Amino acid sequence: MHFTPSLVAAVGLAAVGQVSAKPCPNPAAGLKPIKQIELGPRPYYLVDNMEDGPLKSMLDSCKEMKMKPSTFSIAHRGGGPLQFPEHSRESNLAGARMGAGVLECDVAFTKDLELVCRHSQCDLHTTTNIVNIPELNKKCTTPFQPAANGKPATAKCCTSDITLAEFKSLCSKMDAFNASATTPADYLKGTSNWRTDLYNTCGTTLSLKEHIAMTEALGLQFTPELKTPEVPMPFKGHYTQEKYAQQFIDTFKEAGISPSRVWAQSFLYDDILYWLKHEPKFAKQAMYLDEIADFSGMDAAVKNLTQYHADGVKIVAPPLPYLVTSKNGKIVPSEYAKKANKLGLKIITWSLERSGPIAGVHANGDYYYSSIQDIVTRDGDIYNLVDVLARQVGVLGMFSDWSATVTYYANCFGLGL
Ligand SMILES: *[C@@H]1O[C@H](CO)[C@@H](O)[C@H](O)[C@H]1NC(C)=O
Ligand SMILES: *[C@@H]1O[C@H](CO)[C@@H](O)[C@H](O)[C@H]1NC(C)=O
Repeated sequence: MHFTPSLVAAVGLAAVGQVSAKPCPNPAAGLKPIKQIELGPRPYYLVDNMEDGPLKSMLDSCKEMKMKPSTFSIAHRGGGPLQFPEHSRESNLAGARMGAGVLECDVAFTKDLELVCRHSQCDLHTTTNIVNIPELNKKCTTPFQPAANGKPATAKCCTSDITLAEFKSLCSKMDAFNASATTPADYLKGTSNWRTDLYNTCGTTLSLKEHIAMTEALGLQFTPELKTPEVPMPFKGHYTQEKYAQQFIDTFKEAGISPSRVWAQSFLYDDILYWLKHEPKFAKQAMYLDEIADFSGMDAAVKNLTQYHADGVKIVAPPLPYLVTSKNGKIVPSEYAKKANKLGLKIITWSLERSGPIAGVHANGDYYYSSIQDIVTRDGDIYNLVDVLARQVGVLGMFSDWSATVTYYANCFGLGL
């Protein structure tokens, strides 16, 4: 054997860590609104996998529809991270091709106070090749340490450790790491087996400005998230949380984007209050990412909704399991969902398609299905969940790691088109 094509491919993949991003001076160049929406086989597979019944018949009847983009379909981490590198240009283009009407950029700041798209301020060691670039690894909060003496490999690299130019030189990769790694190159591996490394070939990292230009060229809407800083604020003694929250909004204003196309998010309640006070036009569509039940229990989360409504919050965005529960073998709206609806709060939820095969979810549990684990057994059950969220809970939209799944449902039921 020796140099078979698959070996060449394996060698090519191993080299990923070494190359730095190809120059992509303008990620928006040449982009136009996408007319030919392509969903690929997954939604059709999910429908075929459903149990027989009225929902399956309805979804089945939409198989030959021409698909359109939908704002109900919100691209999580670009919309393609099930298969494409985290928050990359490539993930966003996959999401847009799969009909996501709203593209996400989670926002973090660099050392030179520029805003960039990353899922966390300090995830560069799992979402980029930084640890494999010695001069940048050195700048990390915690540079790569190999696994040794039964202890796992460690690293912690934050956007605030490096400049925008340095960030732009990184490759975006699948969000994963190899805890047993003894070399930086091995640390980059570890993608779960139901995702893929097929496109893990140096994704293009994006600044917020580039993300805006790209989304604008595609004619789509924006959902930026102000990531809660993982360094003490004020950063550098003068960059306060308020300055950060304001710079985030100003970036959209400077690009001439209407607030009606921007769905700002934050887990930090004070950010939402800041926008309500200082940027009311943007606050109208701002969503409070609610994970209070994870720490204080569901009763506390339900109780808090009254306060959010009184404070003027318009949209709450809890994770999927807050909104549904199981009753007599069926998925039904939760107390949280009922209370939010009663108060007139709008609801957006996250994130579909992060969990892998549902048989594994049923057997082993998974955060996103934690309230309905017992009654989901097969992949087709994903659409039972989507259907309850859409038609009984009445969510405005749904984040997904694979936009096609949500776009298909939205087209079939005429949502957000
Ligand atoms: C993880 O790292 C170890 C040690 O460097 C290596 O032997 C192993 O193949 C790596 N695992 C993966 C999934 O690449
Ligand atoms: C909501 O409830 C929890 C626990 O009861 C509390 O700690 C928190 O401050 C409340 N408010 C917000 C805005 O999350």
